[in-house]
Amino acid sequence: MKKKFLNLGKQPIANSFLSSKSKKILSKEFFYNLSVSFNTKNFLVSITNPVDPKIQYTDKYAHRASESYTMRKAFKNIAYKIKKRFNPKIVMEIGSNDGVFIKNFPKKNIIAVEPCKNLAKITKKKFKTYPNFWNKKLANKIFKISKKADIIFSANTISHIPNLKESFDAINFSLSKNGVLIIDDPSLCSVIQNNSYDQFYDEHVYVFSALAISNIVKESSLMLFDVEKMTTHGGSLRYFICKKDSKYKKSKKLLRILNEEKKVGLNKFSTFVKFSKRITKSKKDLVILLKKLKKKNKKIISYGATYKSTTVFNYCKINNRYLDYVTDTTLNKQGKFTPGQHLPIVTPEKGMNKSVDYAFLGAWNFKKEILNKEKDFIKRGGKFITHVPFIKILTK
Ligand code: TMP
Repeated sequence: MKKKFLNLGKQPIANSFLSSKSKKILSKEFFYNLSVSFNTKNFLVSITNPVDPKIQYTDKYAHRASESYTMRKAFKNIAYKIKKRFNPKIVMEIGSNDGVFIKNFPKKNIIAVEPCKNLAKITKKKFKTYPNFWNKKLANKIFKISKKADIIFSANTISHIPNLKESFDAINFSLSKNGVLIIDDPSLCSVIQNNSYDQFYDEHVYVFSALAISNIVKESSLMLFDVEKMTTHGGSLRYFICKKDSKYKKSKKLLRILNEEKKVGLNKFSTFVKFSKRITKSKKDLVILLKKLKKKNKKIISYGATYKSTTVFNYCKINNRYLDYVTDTTLNKQGKFTPGQHLPIVTPEKGMNKSVDYAFLGAWNFKKEILNKEKDFIKRGGKFITHVPFIKILTK
């Protein structure tokens, strides 16, 4: 049974940056109600009423995975590990974005699936790319002409697909006998421990735990056999999944992580009720802090026009009363306005100037990289604000 535990209010599509604040554009802006539920049977946490993927993954999709040094390095690293551990002949990626993962493999090994046409166009130049949503029909089409996949990799994508059962059924069909599905997604345990409620936005239909994944894949005759903790996206898990009758055995690490998750209470509704109370407090504390700083005439901006900060700004109603603008390195976000609260987005070169006193860390998951990059800002007395794991001004 699905039980609601968190209501983050009226939210826009996190990825729909506006090209202007004209009346015509604002009148067309799409909003939905973002509430989050827990399934007491399989422990799956999901958005109660997901948005139609056709509204989300369009030819204007803004996110470029290769923009960040952290992510480029992380994908290079996993590609190397996959080659070493599995030596695959056919590698398919579901949600290949701008090719940040597949570019680490020879062309002949790769099948890419990417429904956002603007992104598929980028990888199509070199790799076999299908500009489609992942489903059974597409799996049938691909594997009519190709040998089955030895590795299916999917980072931050499976959690975006509302129809999980069909996705995993199609994956089972597409894997070779001892083929392995590797998926990376933000970890529910980290969300609960970091109070990072901003991991909930329209694209994150699910925030997975190992407990939930192990239950769900069983329904498609698959088996979770290993898991790794990762620091990307503020704490993620990498799941290794195989066909139920393949050669792999469940690892000790998996059993340990499943136990850890039980200790945190990811199998109990009461854990999520307590989390929800902490989020109400996070909202209250952030607004109090920003009001206090504005009273002292401080200039506050936000760093990183992230999808996550869309949830924070719209849940806490943070608009230009508090923040002057948002900086972001992504070319196609610059010059636009944030979804819902319509804050202007500028380049870090322009935005991180001497007049800035405080910067809200919208891209908190890249804290280390950003603090390293913005040493001058910190040196001259500039300070970062974060809401993770609770509202505070960073002192170093
Ligand atoms: P993500 O958390 O969804 O990957 O988005 C991170 C966003 O933050 C992305 O739009 C790029 C931006 N960003 C900066 O503006 N400066 C930085 O130093 C980093 C690491 C990211």
